[in-house]
Amino acid sequence: MNPSDLAFDANHIWHPYSPLNQPISPLAVRTAQGVTLELDDGRQLIDAMSSWWSVIHGYNHPTINAAAKEQIDQLSHVMFGGLTHQPAVDLCKTLIEITPAGLEKVFLCDSGSVAVDVAMKMALQYWQALEQPKKTKFAALQGGYHGDTLGAMSVCDPSTGMHHLFSDTLAQQHFIERPACVFGSSCKPQHILSLEQLLACEHETIAAVILEPIVQGAGGMYFYAAEYLQAVRSLCDRYGILLIADEIATGFGRTGKLFACEHADIAPDILCIGKAMTGGYLSLAATLTTDAVADGIGRKEPGAFMHGPTFMGNPLACKIASTSIELLLQSNWQQRLPAIEKQLSENLLPLKNHDKIHDVRVLGAIGVIETHTPVDMHKVQKILPELGVWLRPFGRLVYTMPPFIIDAKQLDTITHAMQEVVERCA
Ligand SMILES: Cc1ncc(COP(=O)(O)O)c(C=O)c1O
Repeated sequence: MNPSDLAFDANHIWHPYSPLNQPISPLAVRTAQGVTLELDDGRQLIDAMSSWWSVIHGYNHPTINAAAKEQIDQLSHVMFGGLTHQPAVDLCKTLIEITPAGLEKVFLCDSGSVAVDVAMKMALQYWQALEQPKKTKFAALQGGYHGDTLGAMSVCDPSTGMHHLFSDTLAQQHFIERPACVFGSSCKPQHILSLEQLLACEHETIAAVILEPIVQGAGGMYFYAAEYLQAVRSLCDRYGILLIADEIATGFGRTGKLFACEHADIAPDILCIGKAMTGGYLSLAATLTTDAVADGIGRKEPGAFMHGPTFMGNPLACKIASTSIELLLQSNWQQRLPAIEKQLSENLLPLKNHDKIHDVRVLGAIGVIETHTPVDMHKVQKILPELGVWLRPFGRLVYTMPPFIIDAKQLDTITHAMQEVVERCA
């Protein structure tokens, strides 16, 4: 990219959570192949982030490329109101088959945040239809992240989730402390007490509990006990409250199970998925729900679920998603994920006693180093090309979620780079 285009980017184009004219210039990417990004100047970086956890099969995958090209030649887009098409039907059949039992209805939408807003609207419309209009609140976990639209933001962690900026507009929700029982431990009655007390007092006004099952992602890269999730499911059943599982980050194998709910052997009433669904090719998400919720919504005027984005069910995105899911299911992901987990554990867990490190956590293809002090992003961005790895730490978290096709040598390079980032930038 020539300097004037870089200057244009700096002056006119917003990047995520970044000011215009950012002090840290973005790196220009020219191409990407497998797990490697190639910069404009020819330098190569192993992508340790899978482009925010979505590119599970790597870049420029021949099978997905071929499916996309074939679909473009047939039908790139058509409105979904009053029309349907094979790619949407094929994808929804697969989603119903592979997601936890009982989820029979699929709403296709544009992005993870929209899938969460759709889930919240489904819960609200359901209770209205059941003549329980007072059920308008949501209960969420501290340390959660569910997206950046106004609805999704209202259930993100209240201190890290930008609530102070939008406090007059955001809906006020209930927050429970982050589960203290970590993944692999048991959940004691005291761990679930605050949720139990909240639901006991407020169940008449709570529409749903919303959480990220097992792994809280962008809100802290924290892994909690499967028994906690089972306890939440039981409490929701006891108090007549819906359970929304946000598997936008965890879905499609990331935690070692196809969906993180499987760690606890539970099914939510509403499930949100996105990110890795298209293997990172295009933005597509989905919200699935049960017959009971869908039938409830259909029972009362207007008798329809009231949401309908322009690009809902985009055929190109649906075809790519079906191809990506098929690739995943036909791959040896059930062996690959434990192998990645083992190597991440061997490379990262010994760092636990490092004087700059507060904690190290590994689950599936997620490796996290939590430092004592925040990492300096200026320094990180500068040293990454030299390390040959693309990382995007935030706050005190230096983490990787690599593509599932990463090989052992590349993974060693990633964990070495994470260590260097901690040494030199925290
Ligand atoms: C758990 C979770 N929910 C929702 C979202 C929002 O998804 P999107 O960025 O596609 O809107 C994210 C994104 O990181 C996420 O991790």
